[in-house]
Amino acid sequence: MAKNKNNQTVWNTRIKKDSSSLFQKVGNSIDIDKKLYKEDIAVSIAHVEMLFRQKIISFKIKNKIIYGLNKIEREIIKKKFEYNKKYEDIHMNIEKRLFQIIGEDAGYVHTARSRNDQVITDFKIWIRSSTNEINKSLDKIIKTILKISEKNIYTIMPGFTHLKIAQPISFAHYLMAYVEIFNRDKKRFTNNLENIYENPLGVAALAGTSFNIDRNFTTKKLGFKKPTNNSIDTVADRDFVLDFLYSVSVCSLHISRMAEEFIIWNSDGFNLINLSDRVVTGSSIMPQKKNPDLLEYLRGKSGITFGNLFSMLTILKGLPLSYFKDLQDDKEIVFKSNETLNNCIKILNEILKNFSPNKQKMLELANTGYITATDLADYLVKNHEMPFRKAYQVTASIVNLAEKKKKKLHELNIIELNKIEPKLTKDVLKVFDLKYSVNSKKSFGGTSFDNIKKMITKYKKT
Ligand code: ARG
Repeated sequence: MAKNKNNQTVWNTRIKKDSSSLFQKVGNSIDIDKKLYKEDIAVSIAHVEMLFRQKIISFKIKNKIIYGLNKIEREIIKKKFEYNKKYEDIHMNIEKRLFQIIGEDAGYVHTARSRNDQVITDFKIWIRSSTNEINKSLDKIIKTILKISEKNIYTIMPGFTHLKIAQPISFAHYLMAYVEIFNRDKKRFTNNLENIYENPLGVAALAGTSFNIDRNFTTKKLGFKKPTNNSIDTVADRDFVLDFLYSVSVCSLHISRMAEEFIIWNSDGFNLINLSDRVVTGSSIMPQKKNPDLLEYLRGKSGITFGNLFSMLTILKGLPLSYFKDLQDDKEIVFKSNETLNNCIKILNEILKNFSPNKQKMLELANTGYITATDLADYLVKNHEMPFRKAYQVTASIVNLAEKKKKKLHELNIIELNKIEPKLTKDVLKVFDLKYSVNSKKSFGGTSFDNIKKMITKYKKT
């Protein structure tokens, strides 16, 4: 980079003294917002194209500015750009460099705009593409889950409520629950785009501008859908930041729930799944250990994303309209949350590809805890004209009998069953079969094999 002759801040005509070294140290954000260089250059190019079309700047100046901006972009990509903390942020760093490359005409680039609208425009474009990236990664997870589900339609496991054995389910049905969950996350991210598609550029500092600008032109050029309506609201608004942080939080909460479930199932007490050596770590003292550290990492990281959401809510709370320096921290928070979630999604995908269900243990556990008791109650209603509450009582007595005799439900014989309910015939014994039980849940959304297959096919198509 050429020697900087003009190494003053832009406001040095008015503010004579250099700011305190302490403020120079903490007040700049260049190390964080340099991530926005691409968006900032694209926004400036669209802006000067518009200024030219509106006859606010000449053809020559427009071309000079665009030439300079393209050169700056190449310098940044080649890591030849010198960032200077004195110029605070990415916007001023680029503008300062533009002066060095094309001289005084660089001064036209900031006509009819402020950093206040510039920064949100950059940021909205950045969040827009990050949102699309997250959605693509979620698609990868969904694909992985669909593959595992296809192989586990007939893998029977106990379904839990209160972490107590409840009713038998297909392992694929459990996995497909997470397809619904991650698909909903995608929808949540996509819904945020409606506000993100409103173009802030042209509202300037807070009041709009007296120049005859065309906000519809930059809207189209930068891939927005419409210009924002109110200039004051626009520079003060960080709802799109909250929406993003909230969506990241919810998605990482889901990842955390799945991680916790896998940690429980991988624990020695449950032993329902095995993690491959690729996704476990050892202990520094206990040679036998294989720990699910990565799952714990996923569970813990949700705490970081929630914290970021709360940081932003707190920054905004009580902040009058419109721009304040307080808002500058929005970028660090969003970048961190975005990075955290992206890591978590990748790690979860890796774990999903590196675990296997312990089918034997799943079946064994599904055979305990009188798991088919509800099936028996349903049978009584359907076959012996009993109201459900009565059938519930009869079944509870049968469970008590099994408990007393230290038998499982399917180990009771018809004579024993008839002592409690004389109407029962041998036909009832089928309800204690786990596969029969799972497959009988044919109501829409239930765990029957056919339902699962249909859902897998539906999601594979989309
Ligand atoms: N780096 C600043 C931020 O992100 C840009 C806006 C500066 N505007 C101002 N009026 N100081 O908030």
